[in-house]
Amino acid sequence: MHFQWYPGHMTKAKRMMQEDMKLIDVVIELVDARIPLSSKNPDIDEMAKNKSRVILLNKYDLADEKHTENWKAYFESKGYYVTLVNSKNGNGVRKVNDVVQNACKEKIERDRKRGILNRPLRAMVVGIPNVGKSTFINSIAGKAATKTGNKPGVTKGKQWIKINKTIELLDTPGILWPKFEDQAVGLKLAFIGSIREEILNIYELSIELINFLLNNYNGYLAGRYGIEENDSAIETLSRIAEKRACRIKGGELDLNKAAGFVMDDFRNGRLGNITLEFPEISETN
Ligand code: G4P
Repeated sequence: MHFQWYPGHMTKAKRMMQEDMKLIDVVIELVDARIPLSSKNPDIDEMAKNKSRVILLNKYDLADEKHTENWKAYFESKGYYVTLVNSKNGNGVRKVNDVVQNACKEKIERDRKRGILNRPLRAMVVGIPNVGKSTFINSIAGKAATKTGNKPGVTKGKQWIKINKTIELLDTPGILWPKFEDQAVGLKLAFIGSIREEILNIYELSIELINFLLNNYNGYLAGRYGIEENDSAIETLSRIAEKRACRIKGGELDLNKAAGFVMDDFRNGRLGNITLEFPEISETN
């Protein structure tokens, strides 16, 4: 499968983010807990060097808990401060304050030694499209947060959201571009619905997903659709189509319609908590 991407937009987004980097102490990077590596772009590491780094495993409500814990350990072993967040219902969001403080403790200590006390930490949220940046910002900002206008030394027009006495957040998130050129990454982004439907073949996509599920989450499709799973993804999809009475005129099975059900159910968590890629450490557990 091939995916389109737009280098022009990405170059502009990168340039803007590089400017914003100069204003902040800590980068809060959202990844999707179902595909923590495929929803990450290592270019941010170069842009954010010398900054404190926080990773939020967002949408953990949709991912497989066991693997989410492994991913947390994986990123921590690489020096990130990590926590789990469900931005949609707010679970885990309050904890982010502590994690940010922790990530910045050396900077706070340096400031203290130089006699600078209570200078708020400045943070910026980054992540690929659809990972939940706006939802997270709304959730952490809440009703209590106040927006602060132009500050001396801050680029004119920048808006900061005062989260509490110690943290200020840039109100516009930085947009990272996924690693589309890697087809395996593109496929996982398509699974979670981060690639426009029009350019995808829903049938092919569902066959790929069903194959993954048959190999890694045996019984999940059977549980959802009340079918018997078959080693062949096509046969399994046919059984789902039959069970759901997906038929085109003339009575033939409508596999595209069934494929749509499968993708929709997966994306909304109705097939269960599923993680699509695993860190190396999980294999030794
Ligand atoms: P972005 O700014 O990074 O582009 O992402 P945005 O906040 O727009 O979120 C994209 C979608 O992901 C939204 O769904 C949002 O509700 C959902 N979302 C964000 N965080 C979480 C989370 O932790 N868990 C779950 N389950 N979903 C999350 P949508 O389909 O666009 O809208 P809606 O379904 O909320 O109406």
